[in-house]
Amino acid sequence: MTTHPIQTICCIGAGYVGGPTMAVIADRCPQIQVTVVDLNASRIEAWNDPDLGRLPVYEPGLDAVVGRCRGRNLHFSTDVQSAIAQADIVFLSVNTPTKTRGVGAGQASDLRWIEASARQVAACAKGHTIVVEKSTLPVRTAETVKAILAAAQGATPDGETKSFEVLSNPEFLAEGTAIADLEQPDRVLIGGEDPAAIEALAGIYGHWVPSERILRTNLWSSELSKLTANAFLAQRISSINSIAALCEATEANVQEVARAIGSDSRIGSKFLQAGPGFGGSCFQKDILNLVYLCRHYGLDEVAAYWEAVVQLNAWQQHRIARLVVNKLFGTVTAKRLAILGFAFKADTNDTREAPAIRICSDLLDEGAELAIYDPKVSEGQIAADLEQPAGDGGHDRGGWQLSSSALEAARGADAVLVLTEWSEFAAIPWVELAAVMRKPAWVFDARARLDHGVARAAGFHVWVVGQG
Ligand code: UDX
Ligand code: UDX
Repeated sequence: MTTHPIQTICCIGAGYVGGPTMAVIADRCPQIQVTVVDLNASRIEAWNDPDLGRLPVYEPGLDAVVGRCRGRNLHFSTDVQSAIAQADIVFLSVNTPTKTRGVGAGQASDLRWIEASARQVAACAKGHTIVVEKSTLPVRTAETVKAILAAAQGATPDGETKSFEVLSNPEFLAEGTAIADLEQPDRVLIGGEDPAAIEALAGIYGHWVPSERILRTNLWSSELSKLTANAFLAQRISSINSIAALCEATEANVQEVARAIGSDSRIGSKFLQAGPGFGGSCFQKDILNLVYLCRHYGLDEVAAYWEAVVQLNAWQQHRIARLVVNKLFGTVTAKRLAILGFAFKADTNDTREAPAIRICSDLLDEGAELAIYDPKVSEGQIAADLEQPAGDGGHDRGGWQLSSSALEAARGADAVLVLTEWSEFAAIPWVELAAVMRKPAWVFDARARLDHGVARAAGFHVWVVGQG
């Protein structure tokens, strides 16, 4: 199959991955028409909002990129069928959450949306179409996608021929730095079988990514590399958090330990920040998926090894909630606690698997009254995340309310918990907070990013993750 230069791209899924990725491709390849489609009409409407401050995804720099390309060669639409029909390449960027029921519940990925999208592509595509798996998928998902597409290949009633090639091209972007990660990636990974399709996709990235950073592998290596990269990153966080607990029990300081080990070039300094555990849409989901795959292939010891990374993460979050209760004289019932930060990390409004969810839920179970402040997360999102589990109405759960600043959240509170490392928290006026709080007042710094000297001087008792 000969390739002609790619002229049109369709991306199914206008989420955290599809939106920013396509915006950067459109920005760097003005000659290519890029259409991002989604079933969710209100999401598409938000992507088309004339006010660039109201895009559905918050990413530093995204508004400028969308502002440059939207209407020129970047389009957001709900017309999935015609976008597929016109596309030379279709990216599948739909969500792949962990299954909540049925076979593999709690671990396996739910592939219903990937399958539905593949079927839609099979039905609507015209001519030769390259289908790219952008979503993170279990190893060998391409087989499913290929089987669905193969069934539609061949001559069509209108006398044309339909053909497909499947590639895997996982994203490695981190939320909050998505635009920088897309513009200067460490590497772009393309897995596939057909050299022409691989080169067509490599040609798109080649507009701005140096050629030595575009890696080509077989399909299965590409799918597995994505899961492995996230598993290794998450493992570092669980490793340092396990040592943080030990530091607290001894007189060690985890930041000092992290610096000492991180200076060893074989270990490296990144991803050694102790905290309330990892959140985000990927780490837990991808490791559980890896665990499921290992069990499927009879590799129980390998599965248990990786599962421990997730277990330690949950333990760290419960540990922090328990420790808050202990420090506050063993009870937080009816006590007001200021929660600063709800997003799973700074510079995003995303709360998927945020450590704040588990920590706040534990404190609500203990009867606490939470005053939550986050610069970007909406009240509706927090409400959805903290919703009481069905059938759990039998005890006096605490309550929560939204606050519009750290100071407001702290008014009348016994403690301030910092759960997200928003940069503005570094400048909290501790003296002002101390003045409006009940004494003894506590600061629990789960991110170890505050100026503890100032807080202590203002009269606070201070707990910092990983400091003995
Ligand atoms: C991504 C990846 O796709 C996922 O595999 C990765 O592990 C995490 O990040 P993300 O972009 O964050 O997902 O997901 P989300 O923000 O939920 O966006 C997916 C979009 O696809 C949604 O807007 C949803 O409406 C849309 N969708 C889903 C469709 O348009 N069609 C479908 O059939 C299913
Ligand atoms: C991650 C991967 O980094 C990215 O390559 C992949 O494509 C998607 O998953 P993301 O989830 O957006 O990206 O965020 P990341 O910056 O990796 O942080 C994940 C979680 O780990 C956050 O909750 C963060 O606070 C936490 N973290 C990170 C730590 O607790 N300590 C660290 O040292 C680093």
